[in-house]
Amino acid sequence: MRRPIIVGNWKMNTNLADAIVLATSVKNAVADLGVEIILCPPFIWLYPLAEILEKSPSNLKLGAQNMWFAEKGAMTGEVSPNMVKVLAKYVILGHSERRSNFLEDNNLICDKVTAALENGLTPIVCVGEKHKRSLAKKPGRPNKLVTENDLFSQLKGSLKNISRNDADKIIIAYEPVWAIGTGDAATGGYAAEVIKDLRDILADLFGGPVSERIHILYGGSVDSENVREFVFQPEIDGVLVGGASLKAKEFIKICREAAGGR
Ligand code: 13P
Repeated sequence: MRRPIIVGNWKMNTNLADAIVLATSVKNAVADLGVEIILCPPFIWLYPLAEILEKSPSNLKLGAQNMWFAEKGAMTGEVSPNMVKVLAKYVILGHSERRSNFLEDNNLICDKVTAALENGLTPIVCVGEKHKRSLAKKPGRPNKLVTENDLFSQLKGSLKNISRNDADKIIIAYEPVWAIGTGDAATGGYAAEVIKDLRDILADLFGGPVSERIHILYGGSVDSENVREFVFQPEIDGVLVGGASLKAKEFIKICREAAGGR
């Protein structure tokens, strides 16, 4: 069974003092939980947090929220994979906020995924449809969700240059845009249906056995009240948490609930 992964994406939040308190609280609370936990603070806090988490439990790691794909050069304001890998093991790529606010497309995201893998970083590749869909009655598969083609082309486009050997080093995060920051989380059933389709695509791209090893997370208005609805679904391998990862008590509760949920 794939071990659940809980990612906290702090986005552009926290000051240094808050970041230290939050990371230290998580570190002190999660040692014995049977889940992997990844904290993704703003770039600028990675260095102090890497020092604080140096002797942290082995199930707690740091991730970046983005990076550029080239090793170095005239790219004012950007951070390269070989800079990130000094401080973090994971990197979120293709988040919908990067796709919409910074116009990142699938080709660019694929270059970043490739660069992350070449540098030994684990990419957490985000995909998600913009609009909520209803359950369509389809012969043979009554609960099949009709999702936007855009969702599937995001997955295929973001992974198009990835080899079968590397595919299971990637984590996918299914984050429907309509559920992000809205309080309107998908139901566990909805997320599981879409994730089943995403896994089918991964099986087409990389083969069934490889696709079965890839973690696929759900993200969008996850909190301690609803997290079990997702992690109880065998298709869903964890959660990517935004707002609720900024409150230590709430995030620790999410990790505990998830650890008990499988
Ligand atoms: P919220 O949990 O705040 O909806 O954010 C989800 C998200 O975008 C995590 O990457």
